[in-house]
Amino acid sequence: MSSLADRPENAVVGHRAVHESAALHVTGAAMYTDDIAAQTAGVLTAWPVQSTSAHARVSIDVSGAYEVPGVVRVLTADDVPGLNDAGIRNDEPLFPREAMFYGHALVWVLAETTEAARLGAERVKVEYDELPSLITVHDAIEAGSFMGTPRTVARGDAAAGLASSAHVFEGVTEFAGQEHFYLETHASFAVRDSEGQYFIQCSTQHPTETQDLVSHVLGIPANEVTVQCLRMGGGFGGKEMQPHGFAAIAALGAKLTGRPVRVRLNRTQDLTMTGKRHPFHISWKVGLDESGMLQALDAVLTADGGWSIDLSEPVLGRALCHIDNAYWIPNVHAYGRIAKTNKQSNTAYRGFGGPQGVFLIEDILGRIAPTLGIDPLELRRRNFYQPGQHTPYGQLVKDAERMPTIWDQLADEASIAQRRAEIDAFNAASPDVKRAISMTPIKFGISFNFAAFNQAGALVHVYKDGSVLVNHGGTEMGQGLHTKMLQIAATALGLELHQVRLAPTRTDKVPNTSATAASSGADLNGGAVKNACDQIRDRMAAVAGRLLGVDERDVRFGGGYVTALGTPGRLTFAEVTKAAYFQRVQLFAAGYYRTSGLHWNPETMQGSPFKYFAYGAAATEVEIDRFTGAYRILRVDIVHDVGDSLSPMLDIGQIEGAYVQGMGWLTLEDLRWDDTDGPHRGRLQTQSASTYKLPSFSEMPEEFTVRLFQNAREDGAVYGSKAVGEPPFMLAFSAREALRQAVAAFGPAGHSVDLASPATPESVYWAVETARAAQDAAEPAPALSTV
Ligand code: MTE
Ligand code: MOS
Repeated sequence: MSSLADRPENAVVGHRAVHESAALHVTGAAMYTDDIAAQTAGVLTAWPVQSTSAHARVSIDVSGAYEVPGVVRVLTADDVPGLNDAGIRNDEPLFPREAMFYGHALVWVLAETTEAARLGAERVKVEYDELPSLITVHDAIEAGSFMGTPRTVARGDAAAGLASSAHVFEGVTEFAGQEHFYLETHASFAVRDSEGQYFIQCSTQHPTETQDLVSHVLGIPANEVTVQCLRMGGGFGGKEMQPHGFAAIAALGAKLTGRPVRVRLNRTQDLTMTGKRHPFHISWKVGLDESGMLQALDAVLTADGGWSIDLSEPVLGRALCHIDNAYWIPNVHAYGRIAKTNKQSNTAYRGFGGPQGVFLIEDILGRIAPTLGIDPLELRRRNFYQPGQHTPYGQLVKDAERMPTIWDQLADEASIAQRRAEIDAFNAASPDVKRAISMTPIKFGISFNFAAFNQAGALVHVYKDGSVLVNHGGTEMGQGLHTKMLQIAATALGLELHQVRLAPTRTDKVPNTSATAASSGADLNGGAVKNACDQIRDRMAAVAGRLLGVDERDVRFGGGYVTALGTPGRLTFAEVTKAAYFQRVQLFAAGYYRTSGLHWNPETMQGSPFKYFAYGAAATEVEIDRFTGAYRILRVDIVHDVGDSLSPMLDIGQIEGAYVQGMGWLTLEDLRWDDTDGPHRGRLQTQSASTYKLPSFSEMPEEFTVRLFQNAREDGAVYGSKAVGEPPFMLAFSAREALRQAVAAFGPAGHSVDLASPATPESVYWAVETARAAQDAAEPAPALSTV
């Protein structure tokens, strides 16, 4: 039997394929949820009434809305036939009686037009009975406001390890969250058919969970609800759990009015209603021996979860499982908890807590290297895992030798030594502009920590004419999953790419699907698609064997033809399907895949939760200006491990996009809430693109080279590939570390730089001022010369 990783000759995987929707994207012809809604006759539009208090009991009078022409119905808690809940943990009332954050949707107005719905919403009267509110994570820590179950990852004896360390440092690390800013805001559209069944088109990464939630709210079984996701204009984790409530509003509206209902948030609604990446507050102590080898880490991590639990627990779990990043730390005690604040409910975001865990150790190493007198790149390299070592949560670090190999390849290909010498010379001659180059590694675990999610299904149809239609349970959000699934189906059936088509993701085609998340969309759904195709191909091989007069084991599929070893005969794929149909051979199949070898105890936080690790390293060179703190990213080089790539162009696109998004988080994107005691306490102040700075073309690195690590076959995954979506996000730490080193160049030797995050030009400016003050203190200014 061939293994999951084996690639046939003529494989379509491994070659550049254009994203299946590229032409539609660039011409504007690609349909999204609200395009479908807008084309539907008689559709009603839903508009939320949002809280203007961060925390208050509310009494609501909706009668005024009905005075607005065009308003058809106002949806309130009294209308819910099932569960009044928009979450899966029963802590998110869909129609709340207590507003939990500024912007919280209280009731929804349905009207003939968007304008009428908006005017109707303005006429709803809300009385607020104010309650005390907690806005910052500091407020929550002080008040002891936490939710969910705290978790600890521990190994060895951290206290003893610290006590016996030659060098001990302690500090606090804090960093901000991040807005997803997908181009397509949240959108849902519901229609109830003549049989009373609901069809929901939704911009969701998790159609099955959207289906579950709609059925709970309506109080009907799941087989009466079908959810379709044609494509998303970006998700980035923001549509993993948060679309469900919007779908439920649309479905409830369709039930009560008998008309199709659309929900599409405008940008400000999306920003003020939906959760973001979790910001963290972390206090830590670290110990190292004389030679700079990590000995012990003791940390308390507090994730700001916002008002409800959402995905905060698994996000925290992944953060705790990534505080080691690529480094061996013999003694670890990491305690994690979730703060409850009166803000949007924070949620999944590319890396799913991983970036927050990695942040800690990279921040620590960057801060302590100058004090230790060890070059920060050398300090990192020295502490990499060795083969045979285990993570603090007990998993063997498989392929550990890849990390130093990738690191050294990058150092070589990016000419790091030579460029650092050039930078030293440049800085010596340049008092006001300094440059630096830094390198950071990434090791990222692939699989859902929640074991049940590591399964997937597919449904593949081969029609009589030989054309193929693929259904699978994953969703497309721009990452190229559908293209990869087409490449896998074409490879498994021995076809060319154009012979295979893909149908929209629907819960009535493939049931009980997992979120397309944790970067595992291609691993899981690819395994299922391949399994379905293998079944069909094996049946067709028996038919072809008879036609060609050979044993079925000698039949080969490739390039759209079916051939046999040892005979010159050749049939087209279509000829074989036609013959198979007449012989009454089943030409469609359900495929299934589940990841083997995972085990995880969420209570003890021990086990092997990941199928494998993705590795990578990045080198970033920056230049900063002393007077403004403004900086430029001059050059980025990346070597990243995607196993044997399924689709190199898409993978490189994912790596570039992830790096830039990570750089946005670490250097530009600055969420601000009003935390004064005034009338707008708790209001998100950065509620549009004019106040929330995203990376754009002007922030792109001037030189940007991405190399895929070669000959990297991963035996445990489909056609030897590895997941790519999230890991390279964390390559952006090299940009933050380069900024830190460039700031340090303004200070005396051994100056440790504590850089705020995001490292906006303003933060960089203040860090430079601190470095310059240290420099002045180290060497008294020369006496002024007199003329
Ligand atoms: N790429 C694009 N263009 N748009 C997205 O929304 N989401 C990211 C990543 N890459 C995203 C993306 C996130 S958070 C994840 S988990 C993965 O894609 C999900 O898709 P995959 O499992 O198919 O890699
Ligand atoms: Mo990605 S944060 O796992 O959707």
